[in-house]
Amino acid sequence: MYLVYEGDKNGNNIPDDEEIEVLPLKGDGDFRSPECIAFLKEADIVVTNPLFSLFREYLAQLIKYDKKFLIIGHQNAIKYKEIFPLIKENKLWLGYGFKGGAGHFISQYEDKATAGNHKEGMIRVSGVTWFTNMEIKKRHEDIILYNKYSPEEYPEYANYDAIDVSKTAEIPCDYFGEMGVPITFMDKYNPE
Ligand SMILES: C[S@@+](CC[C@H](N)C(=O)[O-])C[C@H]1O[C@@H](n2cnc3c(N)ncnc32)[C@H](O)[C@@H]1O
Repeated sequence: MYLVYEGDKNGNNIPDDEEIEVLPLKGDGDFRSPECIAFLKEADIVVTNPLFSLFREYLAQLIKYDKKFLIIGHQNAIKYKEIFPLIKENKLWLGYGFKGGAGHFISQYEDKATAGNHKEGMIRVSGVTWFTNMEIKKRHEDIILYNKYSPEEYPEYANYDAIDVSKTAEIPCDYFGEMGVPITFMDKYNPE
């Protein structure tokens, strides 16, 4: 089904049930179906939580239709061969993320949240982040670096001409060659 909301009619600034039309789709609602693509074309901004197993395909479709988006994905997706080039080409970056790298979603699933976060119907998903192509301040902020390079503290890889930096905060401020950084660096990445 799909929902249609055409704005507040009774002036209470809340989308009430009676202001939202619920209509059946003709097809099965697959995001790749012509019917759903027609809806996508209407959208200015797509905000959603797509299923992780089709993340590559979902994102490729948003790029193909030149949409502004804010979507949830797993941080491992940064490393996918289809995703990383988009980050390199400045077509995609990480949003403001989730506290502690974990998302909490209220759902109709069984209660699977960890002890500290109990709420009826809540599930906890770790390692999730926002992927977006909308302008945000974070990607223009400098990382303040304190560490100085020394060959003892930053060993070189055996099979690649770069140094290993195990924590983003420990990136040496005076080293300008290639370095390997943890994936969490992408959360602080400033292309400038
Ligand atoms: C992680 S859930 C998020 C659901 C919803 N956005 C939310 O936040 O409650 C992903 C949803 O994608 C739906 N889904 C699975 N395959 C799909 C497909 N090929 N096309 C469209 N939706 C699909 C699943 O049924 C599921 O409801």
